[in-house]
Amino acid sequence: MVTRADIGVLGGSGFYSLLDDAEEIQLSTPYGPPSDVVTVGRIGSRSVAFIPRHGRDHRFPPHRIPYRANLWALRSLGVRQVLAPSAVGSLKLAYGPGAIVVPDQIVDRTSGRPQTYYDDPGAVHVSFADPYCPSGRAAAVATARSTGWDDVVDGGTLVVIEGPRFSSRAESQWFAANGWSIVGMTGYPESVLARELALCYTSLSLVTDHDAGVEAGQGVTHDEVLEFFARNVTRMRTLVAETVKALPADPTCPCGSALDGIKLPFELP
Ligand code: ADE
Repeated sequence: MVTRADIGVLGGSGFYSLLDDAEEIQLSTPYGPPSDVVTVGRIGSRSVAFIPRHGRDHRFPPHRIPYRANLWALRSLGVRQVLAPSAVGSLKLAYGPGAIVVPDQIVDRTSGRPQTYYDDPGAVHVSFADPYCPSGRAAAVATARSTGWDDVVDGGTLVVIEGPRFSSRAESQWFAANGWSIVGMTGYPESVLARELALCYTSLSLVTDHDAGVEAGQGVTHDEVLEFFARNVTRMRTLVAETVKALPADPTCPCGSALDGIKLPFELP
C-alpha cells in the first residue's frame, strides 16, 4: 500500500513520539530532499506525516531549511492540513514565556530565501491577505484553552526575521511599535509555500522569551530558547496531538481553493 497522510506537522525533533505505528519514508522532491526522512503514523484516527524542520540533528539553521522540499514532500503524501509549532519571542510585555499565540497575520522580514514554487514564466499570484487557515486556527485556540494553557492568544502578527541572529533592540522596538505581537525565524516562507500548494497552515507559536526591545537586559540567547522549548516540549506535544484530533476532517475553509481558476505551470503532487 502507498503510504498516505492527511495532516502534516513541521516541528522540532521533540515531536517524534507523537506518532503511533510510525514508518519512516525517504522522499525526494524537485527541490531536493526535505529536512529529514518523513515519519508517517497515526494520532487517534488521523494519519500524520512529521518532518523535523531543522533536521533530526538540527543541522539546518532557519535560513537554510529546505522549506520548498518540506511542503512539497508533505503534499505528495496527500497532506492537506499543516500544523507548525515553533518557538517565538514576544514583542508585548503582556505575553510572557509560556504563552501560546495562534497568529492570524504575518510580516515577512526575511531576505533571499526561495519563497515560491512559481519561478518560471507564467506568473502565479496566490492571495495571501489571510495567511493562516481559519479552521486550523479555531481548532488550535480551542484545544490550547481546553488542555490547560493559562495564556492563549487568539490572533496577532508574527514578524519573521531572516536570522540566524536575533533582533537588535531598535529593530525589536520598531516591530513592537507597529503593533506586531511575536517574532520568529521559520514562519516564512513556510506559510506562503503552504498557500502556494493550497494547503491549510496553522502556526502554534510558543513564546520562549521577551525579545530585546521589550525588556531591559542583554536580550535573548539561543541556549535560553532551546532550554525553554525543551522544558515545554511535552506540553507542546500534547497540544499538537490534541489539535490534530480537533482539525475538521472536511474543512470548509478557503485554503484548498487557493489555486482555483489559476493556470498552473505544472501539476501539483
Ligand atoms: N525564537 C525564539 N525567540 C526568538 C526571538 N526573540 N527572536 C526570533 N526568533 C525567536
